[in-house]
Amino acid sequence: MPASERLAWTAGLVDLGPGERALEVGCGHGVLLGLLAGRLTTGEAVGVDRSPTMVAAAARRNRAAVEDGRVRLAAADLTDAELGVRPFDVVVSFNVRAFWTPPAPEWDVVDRVLAPDGRVLVAFSVMAPGADGPVEDAVRELAGQRGLRPVRSHRGATAPIASAAVELRRG
Ligand SMILES: C[S@@+](CC[C@H](N)C(=O)[O-])C[C@H]1O[C@@H](n2cnc3c(N)ncnc32)[C@H](O)[C@@H]1O
Repeated sequence: MPASERLAWTAGLVDLGPGERALEVGCGHGVLLGLLAGRLTTGEAVGVDRSPTMVAAAARRNRAAVEDGRVRLAAADLTDAELGVRPFDVVVSFNVRAFWTPPAPEWDVVDRVLAPDGRVLVAFSVMAPGADGPVEDAVRELAGQRGLRPVRSHRGATAPIASAAVELRRG
């Protein structure tokens, strides 16, 4: 099955380097995770989803990458996930409402695991004209409480639903 336009668009924004470490929060069926893994040689893509059903589907979809160590999966809420001590170069999510819904303890985890020069991409479907603004405002507020600042807003004319993403860094 071809990757959805929105997730291919997001993978392009992440622009993962071959040796980088990425964390996808709410990886669902693992489509974006597979696109990220496809760019890796020595790096690693870790997918976390609190739904064991989703993680099982992601494991099936990415079996080869799991077996050769490019992909690791965890069935857990992000706030409980065992993520180790090695920092991530990028944290990405698509349509994970927790990142714009207070109190959003997920941002505390991002702050803990993100490398000092790491980047975060919070991407989402724009369900109605103008719906992106309030989401971006909430992301800015909640991430800002943890010292993460938006550096760019992205808009994608993805079909069938347009996409948006906020890119953040420390500082
Ligand atoms: C709307 S789905 C999006 C799935 C996928 N990212 C996509 O765009 O197709 C949101 C997913 O995030 C997961 N999720 C939401 N909050 C989470 C959290 N705090 N920790 C881990 N997974 C979470 C849900 O279980 C669900 O699979």
